[in-house]
Amino acid sequence: MLFADPASEGLMARKVILDVDPGIDDAIALCLALFDPRLEVVAITAVGGNCSPANATRNVQAIIEQLDPPRWPRLGAASPPDAGLPVNGRHLHGVDGLAGVEFEVAELHHLHPSEKVICDQVRGAPEASITIVALGPLTNIARAFQRDPELPSLVGEIVMMGGTVAGPGNITPAAEFNMYCDPGSAQAVFRSRSTKTLIPLDVTNRLVLSFDLLNRLPDEATRVGRFLRTILPPAFRGYRQRFGLEGIHVHDSVALTAVTEPELFSTEEMAGDVETMGELTTGMTIFDRRRVPSWRNNMEVATEMQVGAVTEAIIRGMNDAARRPKLP
Ligand code: BDR
Ligand code: CA
Repeated sequence: MLFADPASEGLMARKVILDVDPGIDDAIALCLALFDPRLEVVAITAVGGNCSPANATRNVQAIIEQLDPPRWPRLGAASPPDAGLPVNGRHLHGVDGLAGVEFEVAELHHLHPSEKVICDQVRGAPEASITIVALGPLTNIARAFQRDPELPSLVGEIVMMGGTVAGPGNITPAAEFNMYCDPGSAQAVFRSRSTKTLIPLDVTNRLVLSFDLLNRLPDEATRVGRFLRTILPPAFRGYRQRFGLEGIHVHDSVALTAVTEPELFSTEEMAGDVETMGELTTGMTIFDRRRVPSWRNNMEVATEMQVGAVTEAIIRGMNDAARRPKLP
């Protein structure tokens, strides 16, 4: 198969910062993004969530070393949210966030804090040219906005995986994991003047990658194939043990696909906020969907997706990533 080179076709790759808490589904999304010619990944910023901030930072470095993408992006280090992390994702992602594999990291770099990397990249790029793809708790984005109050209007768009509109949560009955980890930051980002798109659990939950995905993964002889074949089998075991499900969710890859193939999704403008204090509802996302709402719309929210086409896009993306040639 021949790969289209967006530069040679006169197309501009979209500049993205990936903010991640790897996390198996974050790691899969990184495999897709780092080799996708439609994207230029200018930075990957770690955030605590599925694992501790220190682990998330280490995992980002491990993933980059494992995959060795054509261009190595800037990396940012995670620090704990102000109120600490109330939970982690070890039930699904293993003790270290990456299926307990404990990948070697040849060279642990001293990294700038994620929020500084976000500010530098957004300030250093032409106005509104950077999309932030937020696949974990919103700690870093809120901190970047606090550090540089003009930043919300300089970012092109923030695409966030998280929250629910009408369905139940996945970490409490009311809250989705990313929102629950740092509700104060989520609220600050929701209320900021930035252009936002939310890909909520109601939509990402509809896609389940079944066991036969394992037969469609790239060859073990490729870096991407070897990496995916190491982290995915434990993920299937985790989902079976925890939910009795013969398949896995890949919330973060769905959100990334909404960036690369938006035509596969429908969105509606909504007015959303995040509960930060409820005894039972902390981290719950709330949308003013009354007949006559009084809140102002502040984001696009995905409401539908073409499940089959998104599934195929993700599997195709994994295989394309493994075949992508190195830059000269
Ligand atoms: C989200 O929570 C995390 O566990 C996943 O990585 C994903 O970002 C789904 O609720
Ligand atoms: Ca995540």
